[in-house]
Amino acid sequence: MVRSIFYNIGMQAPLRVLICALWVLAGCGAGEEAPAQTDGPELAAQITTGKRLFMSNGCALCHGESGDGEGRIAHTLSPAPRNFADVRTYKQGNQAEHIAFSIANGLGDGGAMPSYPHISAADRQAMAQFIYSLQDEGASKGGGE
Ligand code: HEC
Repeated sequence: MVRSIFYNIGMQAPLRVLICALWVLAGCGAGEEAPAQTDGPELAAQITTGKRLFMSNGCALCHGESGDGEGRIAHTLSPAPRNFADVRTYKQGNQAEHIAFSIANGLGDGGAMPSYPHISAADRQAMAQFIYSLQDEGASKGGGE
């Protein structure tokens, strides 16, 4: 994804290398909640783990097994759990690190989204990557808020 952005804007090679280096440095300095910007098989494994945790922690009860917001008790909730595919509906940001934050802290005043501070950062991150993977590719994915 990152690579394609650079190619599209036709950046000079040295500049591209510099920006890649800065990108890597920024990633190294990040804290515990930062998304591991993994790719390929590692990311795929994280998403698989995330889906398993999503099921075993009862998220699907509200959010639905496919994350479409149609869980078994969704109709009892107001506001309703959102459809994770729709990037416009996230109140606290749609990037993986935002989602991990939402899982740890829950949502809103009297919101129906519980907080899960007891789940390890790694497990929250895996679920965040799973949810991120459900988002529609089009529109504003990558936009944050
Ligand atoms: C009791 C039902 C319920 C359970 C269980 C639940 N959620 Fe939610 N969740 C909600 C509702 C309702 C909202 C929307 C709240 C709002 O809009 O104020 C929400 C919102 C979210 C959001 C969107 C945050 C944003 O920025 O808008 C994420 C991500 C999320 N939940 C992830 C999870 C994960 C992961 C789990 C399991 C660890 C989980 N939820 C368990 C009901 C639930």
